[in-house]
Amino acid sequence: MRIAMIGTGYVGLVSGACFADFGHEVVCVDKDAGKIDRLKQGVMPIWEPGLEALVKSNVERGRLNFTTNLAEGVDGAEAVFIAVGTPARRGDGHADLTFVFDAVKELAHALKGPAVVVTKSTVPVGTGDRITELFKKEGAPAGTSVASNPEFLREGAAIADFKHPDRIVVGAEDESARQVLREIYRPLFLNKAPILFTGRRTAELTKYAANAFLAVKISFINEIANLCEAVDADVQEVARGIGLDNRIGPKFLHPGPGYGGSCFPKDTLALLQTANAAGVEQRIVKTVVEVNDERKATMHERVLHALGGDLKGKRVAVLGVAFKPNTDDMRDAPSIPLVKGLQDQGATVAAFDPAAMGHAKDLMPEVEFTNDAYAAAKDADALVVVTEWDEFRAIDLERIARTMKGNVLVDLRNVYDRAEAEEAGFDYSGLGRGRIGGNGAHLKLVKNGSDDVKVAR
Ligand code: UDX
Repeated sequence: MRIAMIGTGYVGLVSGACFADFGHEVVCVDKDAGKIDRLKQGVMPIWEPGLEALVKSNVERGRLNFTTNLAEGVDGAEAVFIAVGTPARRGDGHADLTFVFDAVKELAHALKGPAVVVTKSTVPVGTGDRITELFKKEGAPAGTSVASNPEFLREGAAIADFKHPDRIVVGAEDESARQVLREIYRPLFLNKAPILFTGRRTAELTKYAANAFLAVKISFINEIANLCEAVDADVQEVARGIGLDNRIGPKFLHPGPGYGGSCFPKDTLALLQTANAAGVEQRIVKTVVEVNDERKATMHERVLHALGGDLKGKRVAVLGVAFKPNTDDMRDAPSIPLVKGLQDQGATVAAFDPAAMGHAKDLMPEVEFTNDAYAAAKDADALVVVTEWDEFRAIDLERIARTMKGNVLVDLRNVYDRAEAEEAGFDYSGLGRGRIGGNGAHLKLVKNGSDDVKVAR
């Protein structure tokens, strides 16, 4: 099968390389000539485990090629995937479809014969219909059809997710498109990955519903963690206790500093815009967006509290700035408002991240970036874990405690065992692991805590 992939961002590049690895002949197209040149030389534009080796081996086998020339890239392709960015539009949170429609217009004139054009980019319900109309208007070859095939790839685990998906969702309005996509995914199909064929609009909405539901799960456990701090319970045990119920499941029940990344924040906002336009309220998702925004904006207060209410002249070491481990992605990372909050309160911040410091430097002026976690912690009053990189789990707690001036450890990912941290000399606080600080001080951390909660104590 000959496939063209428009867009060599994280989704396009991973999908293109994986399709090539299935044995298809893939051409990845991007307008960015520098990026294409670097890809041809085997230099990856993103940090994703396993990607470089996968790209190189498929380029060597001649199955994966790169070009800036769209007409050349789509020549003879039976399927053309659109995997360009759909960022949140400034101001209203609508998905910005400029890149999608630009690609579609160009494609309409570049195609020499009919092809199945598939949106992999996350696009609002009805985008497939709009693309179909645009193809007609621009005079695309007769028989060109439009399908939706949303991706469910986690950054940092994207290749494994692509090759071992929980499911593949295909939204198509005609049998020929279904046939082409069935053929493309045949290797996974043979591996028993469920393929769900449905309507195009349904497939488009499925992507948003999946991400919104996962965001609900995370915000739910974050709020339960807040409650655990007020009533002296352990959220890890609560998560295990509820997660063993098959109806709930154990995943996405890890409390943290609020979800970030390229998908959840933008897709929840875009879903709200879709609902708004349809005149249908989505109160749960709306609340989740608020809960998460507030959580991110208040995480620095935990450090403030742990350091006795004053950050002036204090030095805080931040471990991890990427929005999650195994990526260099800083989009909507909770570290950004956290660091700003600390600095606004007068703290000096040092930070280390194994992959994201290059991107973080511009976003976090005045942060002193160091070469490792120990250097960041040197002379610090407090150590804050923001991203749960494996190498932080393996840190020598006694050694890092010795390099610090103070002994506060705020663990926003619950990576350490409290007893071990205390044994190493730390004054430890995690998320939702019993009372914080005693004396009811934790109540200050629970925003919107009603009077009833205080009385109940
Ligand atoms: C997500 C979806 O998982 C993926 O299916 C979709 O296609 C793209 O968006 P990604 O953003 O790469 O993937 O990361 P994910 O692992 O889902 O984490 C998203 C955010 O939620 C991160 O900030 C992470 O730290 C946070 N999170 C996740 C939690 O706080 N707790 C959890 O239990 C899980």
